[in-house]
Amino acid sequence: MPDPNPPPGFSRRSFMKTVGVSATVTTLSGIAEAHALAREQEAGDQLLGPGPISIAFTVNGKAAEMRVEPSTTLAEALRFQLGLTGTKVICDRGACGGCSVILNGKLANACMMLVIDAQGASITTIEGIAKGSKLDPVQESYLRHDALQCGYCTPGFIVATRVLLDDVPKPTLDQIKKALGGNICRCGTYTNIFNAALEASGQAPIMDQKGVA
Ligand code: FES
Ligand code: FES
Repeated sequence: MPDPNPPPGFSRRSFMKTVGVSATVTTLSGIAEAHALAREQEAGDQLLGPGPISIAFTVNGKAAEMRVEPSTTLAEALRFQLGLTGTKVICDRGACGGCSVILNGKLANACMMLVIDAQGASITTIEGIAKGSKLDPVQESYLRHDALQCGYCTPGFIVATRVLLDDVPKPTLDQIKKALGGNICRCGTYTNIFNAALEASGQAPIMDQKGVA
């Protein structure tokens, strides 16, 4: 019977080795542990934590380095270590899209991943969407269509819209709704948001489209 309270310094990996992987995969958490162990071994047995760890990545085209607790989320690192508070933490559980960032070209919820998993990544936050003082066409379109009320959800929507248009330059309304489906606007400005996305992609807003009231 393994000691349920391993002594300090007794790592999860050595604990897992002691009890054997087969004994731990009888529960879902055991399966997750086994996968984590396999990933550690594939990564060359590199153990990080439990103390502060060094992270380096690129944010908005600039190199960034920090030492953080391993439990730090990417959203926390961006906001509290780098002062990039445009990335909003609203639900903190992957349900609202307020923390949307572009991670290696893909949309990601920064509240749902540990910063350790962003090691070496290229990240763009809302602060990096504009080119200097020139707003991105998506930002200009959101302004033109007044696609916000309180504005709290807006950075996430703009980032998600930018990712969509990078992928699909002229999306249909259905594609826009689907792509922005992970973002929630509690003020209900969806019509204006969809219009902003349509216009940013060079298409007529909903009200001007035949058959749409
Ligand atoms: S704050 Fe990350 S999804 Fe809501
Ligand atoms: S503008 Fe208020 S939550 Fe979207």
